[in-house]
Amino acid sequence: MSYLTDRARAAGRNPEQPEAAGGQSFDDVLAEAHVTRRTMLRGSVGASLAALFGGTALNACSSDDTLVHPNLDGGGPTLGPDASVRPGTDAGIDAGPSGPYAVQFKKIARSTADTVVVPEGYSVDVLFAAGDAVVPGATPFTGTFLTSGETEKIAGGNHDGMAFFELPGVDPNKGGLLAINHEAPDLKILIASASYDRNTPDLEQRKIVLSSVGVSVIEIELKADGKWGVKANSTYNKRYTGNTEYRVSGPAASTVGPKVVGTLNNCSSGRTPWGTYLTCEETSENYLIPADSTKNSGYGWVVEIDPRGELADLPVKRTALGRFDHENIVYLLGSDNSIAFYMGDDGTPGCIYKFIPSAKFDPNNRAANANLLDLGTLYAAKFNPDGTGQWVALVQGQNGLVTGAMDPGNETQGEQPDTKIDFNAQADVLVNTKAAARVAGATLMDRPEWITVGPDKTFYCTLTNNGGRKVVHKANPRVQNLHGHIVKWTEASGSPTATTFSWEVFLLAGDPSIAKENLAGNIDGDTFSSPDGLYVDPQGRLWVQTDMNLGASGDPFRNMVDVFGNNSMYYVDPVTKKSSRFLAGPKGCEITGITHTPDLKTFFINIQHPDQGAWPSNVQDNKLPPRSATVVVRRIDGKPVGA
Ligand code: FEO
Ligand code: CA
Ligand code: CA
Repeated sequence: MSYLTDRARAAGRNPEQPEAAGGQSFDDVLAEAHVTRRTMLRGSVGASLAALFGGTALNACSSDDTLVHPNLDGGGPTLGPDASVRPGTDAGIDAGPSGPYAVQFKKIARSTADTVVVPEGYSVDVLFAAGDAVVPGATPFTGTFLTSGETEKIAGGNHDGMAFFELPGVDPNKGGLLAINHEAPDLKILIASASYDRNTPDLEQRKIVLSSVGVSVIEIELKADGKWGVKANSTYNKRYTGNTEYRVSGPAASTVGPKVVGTLNNCSSGRTPWGTYLTCEETSENYLIPADSTKNSGYGWVVEIDPRGELADLPVKRTALGRFDHENIVYLLGSDNSIAFYMGDDGTPGCIYKFIPSAKFDPNNRAANANLLDLGTLYAAKFNPDGTGQWVALVQGQNGLVTGAMDPGNETQGEQPDTKIDFNAQADVLVNTKAAARVAGATLMDRPEWITVGPDKTFYCTLTNNGGRKVVHKANPRVQNLHGHIVKWTEASGSPTATTFSWEVFLLAGDPSIAKENLAGNIDGDTFSSPDGLYVDPQGRLWVQTDMNLGASGDPFRNMVDVFGNNSMYYVDPVTKKSSRFLAGPKGCEITGITHTPDLKTFFINIQHPDQGAWPSNVQDNKLPPRSATVVVRRIDGKPVGA
């Protein structure tokens, strides 16, 4: 979760349980939303470092840093046999342009500039910012606050996970749909701060705030001038918001109820091979409207949306996939069309999950997959110290999930009292999935964020950080894990239906200049903190995006930005693990959301909460407040990104 979410939910956190890491609070952000932003480099040490490293950022490159890495060990990716949806994030997806090819770009320097920095020879353009028009006829935000009826039709805030979808009859390298998650409101463009108290919003304010989360679906096209743009008034352009009604399906529908109003905290996301979008709710409480936060179990689910609007009975909350602080979701497809979906719980700590549908994917009939996410088995990962692992079934009656079970609590954070919990039916397991995983013996990880699986069927997962960890484990080897790490695993026989796997720690984030054993990390090359967005593209290339908060780095004299620069995106060679900074964000932002056209010539990246500066107004030449946005990254010579 972003620091916005993290602190917004602090009121509900067990006071004995430390926060993930220091940083700004959501209330701070709300309070600051309409006033001068706090500058993080005010101290004399920070100021001198800012002077030293700032101002060189725009298109700056270090001198000896052209990358030439082999793509994959053995000369290239092994493609799965089940390519059916392009472009993809998951094993079995189209390879994109013919390869393999070396990864070459002139890596960029650490940046503290208030702009998006990309390598020499690349372009970056703002495509879609918070407040832009979505629904045909919408009035965009141009500096005057809008009514709730109007905000319901414009881009939400805090852009996060997203996916590109092809359209029938359209060259996918020149047009398609983007489905984009909105994790939280960009309040500065929504409501006058003097009139707003999130604990006592009036009905209109409530509607406005809830309109700004959820999903935007937009049709986009590559125009004659070589720039991508949103096709205004496309009938595909649509919003799903915190005010929209969602059907509920799966075994917990009986508990949740047949319908829920609102999707919330739409953090990261995924796709299915039948071309639907899966938006993941990273909260199981309505922290946006605190008065409603404990009322129901309607949040914390994966929600399936058809961006093409063809399938009946969507959108729907799929309860079979469990209720927790969902990050993203990826799938692995077998040669026999068996399939599994993998998910992280960005809890402090949280577990890693896998859902195996009972039925196989039908590649020939889109609608035949309508119930695939309702029937199946949910598992949680148990990482054994010897590098083996098991997927433990979260099924009522199995693995201790019975009436009168004892939940051991988040023991990694210090001693926790056991709590009695009744799992009388599968709905109890799914509504209380975090507790079920703990009871069943799954491993508590340092905040699982994104999971990705490459063409070689190797999985990676970012464990973003866990500053409060007191008890270590081989898969979470550091106390006070302020900077996070990445684990990798492979399923037994590479099969989606495997119930065992083998794993290792891929890298430990941090910086060797921080002279503490638990914070130095082991990154070779450009260092980073708090890996979050993570993606192996169809060419087997691993991209890492960061979401460090802006607080303490662990070094008494330097904050996070002093050490690492602004949050950035890195290429990390899957074999050599060498890290190279590819893109840096503007002040205060998180880098997240990554998708692309099938030819890999256009990457779409999200810049979330750039609220310490002026971006993107400083590149758009207007006076609007800083706001989250999707940017387009391309090469000026027209070749694939990174090639
Ligand atoms: Fe919204 Fe866990 O990131
Ligand atoms: Ca995060
Ligand atoms: Ca995230």
